[in-house]
Amino acid sequence: MCGIFGMLGGGSVGRTVEALRYLEYRGYDSAGIAASVNGKLRVYKSVGRIDRLQSVIPPDLDSDRTIGHTRWATHGAVSYDNAHPFVSSDNSFAVVHNGIIENYLALKKQLSLRGTVFTSQTDSETVAHVLQHHYKTDVLQAVIATANCLAGAYAIVISTTHDGNLYAIKDKSPLVVGLSDDGVYLCSDVRCVSRWASKVAVVPDKTVIAVSANGVEFYDYDGKRVTMQYFDAERSETETDTCGDFMLKEISEIPDRLRQVTSGYYADGGLGMPRELALQLRRIYMIGCGTAYNSGLHAASVARAFSDVDIIPVIASEYIYGHYPTDAGTLAILISQSGETADTIRAAEKVAAQGGITYAVTNTKSSSLCFKCRCVNYIYAGGEFAVASTKAYNCQLVTLLLILADIARLRGTLDSARHQRLLDSVKALPESAERALADSARIKRLALQIKDSSAVFYIGRVNDYSTACEGSLKLKEISYIHSEAYPAGELKHGTLALMERGVTVIAICTEPALKQKIAASVSEITARGARVITVAPFTIDGCDGIILPQCDASVGGVIAVIPLQLLAYYAAKALNRDVDKPRNLAKSVTVE
Ligand code: M6R
Repeated sequence: MCGIFGMLGGGSVGRTVEALRYLEYRGYDSAGIAASVNGKLRVYKSVGRIDRLQSVIPPDLDSDRTIGHTRWATHGAVSYDNAHPFVSSDNSFAVVHNGIIENYLALKKQLSLRGTVFTSQTDSETVAHVLQHHYKTDVLQAVIATANCLAGAYAIVISTTHDGNLYAIKDKSPLVVGLSDDGVYLCSDVRCVSRWASKVAVVPDKTVIAVSANGVEFYDYDGKRVTMQYFDAERSETETDTCGDFMLKEISEIPDRLRQVTSGYYADGGLGMPRELALQLRRIYMIGCGTAYNSGLHAASVARAFSDVDIIPVIASEYIYGHYPTDAGTLAILISQSGETADTIRAAEKVAAQGGITYAVTNTKSSSLCFKCRCVNYIYAGGEFAVASTKAYNCQLVTLLLILADIARLRGTLDSARHQRLLDSVKALPESAERALADSARIKRLALQIKDSSAVFYIGRVNDYSTACEGSLKLKEISYIHSEAYPAGELKHGTLALMERGVTVIAICTEPALKQKIAASVSEITARGARVITVAPFTIDGCDGIILPQCDASVGGVIAVIPLQLLAYYAAKALNRDVDKPRNLAKSVTVE
């Protein structure tokens, strides 16, 4: 995770700080910059947020070559010493790094034997010293030699006192180059540079970049020049679009985004998969992490009702190291809001290597995942900045349902009448979402009552189980209240032992036919002293309830999750948590 940035051009200090504010969602443990001033590298860093960094940078600091970093700690504690940028012992190289250098201990040992003194516990510092070690007279040669020494996943931006250039190396962590009239940008986030750049290039793995006043050159690890394709940058929203919490703003956007997701899907050509390919499928994996995985879990549960193909949800990191049959009859739908999640990208690579069909479902155009996959579809959720994913989940669900329904339609297991019914239900979603949001005052009151719970359990059956998983993830990640999700029927097979006063259970039931089942679970729980809140289109005597708008079962999860997103938000606010930037987390997890 970590955000990296570099700029060659006038006013680079201010631009770098601005970029780091944008990139803060990638990590907010510490931040720093290195500016080249009169042939020297001036480094400023601080623990904590960008505001603190800005307070230590002299207001008159001026440079036309600056690199910057926001950190999400992997190697070494959150501390000043472990904050980037790192400089070589002779102060001639400064580096910022996103990723993990897997062989850093071996490199560190070799350098230490030659007398290098390390000042941090990080893997990243090693790179600055390796550069110094390889430098003879030509920086580019030193950078290429360094690239060939590194193992792992990394995007590294390098500044040096030996010449007036910036350099970068990239393997398996995201890096883009942006061109504008003001200068050249190197960055881990395409949306960040798209605010200033007119042209953007997404850098492929194992590339070395040299940025000079004359332009940008790309090389492979053998030092051979390679050509790069630039495309027109797409302007995106910025974080200044809100004056409150991003999370609440993003939840409130759900109705509008649901209006856009279906039109976006069809404007882009729908499924985008030839009939022959759909007919040869034997299995479909729904692969993702966190919220993205939960959306696959839910879509799989719904689509099983109309599909003749096995639809199997798999957590991306499990797919990478587990044994999942994959061949030409396998479609892997790789779900990722950011399109930069390392586990999901590694899983895409494994699917492709084994001959499966890769299909990205992402919110981020030109993200790394798009370049790894044979088919791509966008979810049109708009920029999502809060670490807790909300509107992206709702839009992922709709896109996944449209994809799975189109496949079933091509295979003849979903007739046109049922297909049309599903589309009609999708069309009704924005209005239902508005009704769900209208209940926020009541949800806020309930959140105040659950905020002091010793634990919160989310239960539901079939489709509602995945909604429970997503509700539970939302609550734990931003409120830090312990929470778990269970299929409702599993409660009596163990978890019932935990029911007592102080525990809250959120019981989700979008299927009126299952009302009696959920009523039985409620009685079992309340009899043990725990408190129950139902989330359903009906109430149950003896417990609080959030009433859901009536929806078709196939799309009910898109709406049922909204009160759970709000419940988590209000509980976290009541506990005074930083809802947009919860502890220990980052928005984009670009390390395995
Ligand atoms: O960008 P992605 O959709 O690939 O991110 C996947 C997860 O890291 C993400 O959903 C995470 O679980 C969120 N913090 C959940 O709110």
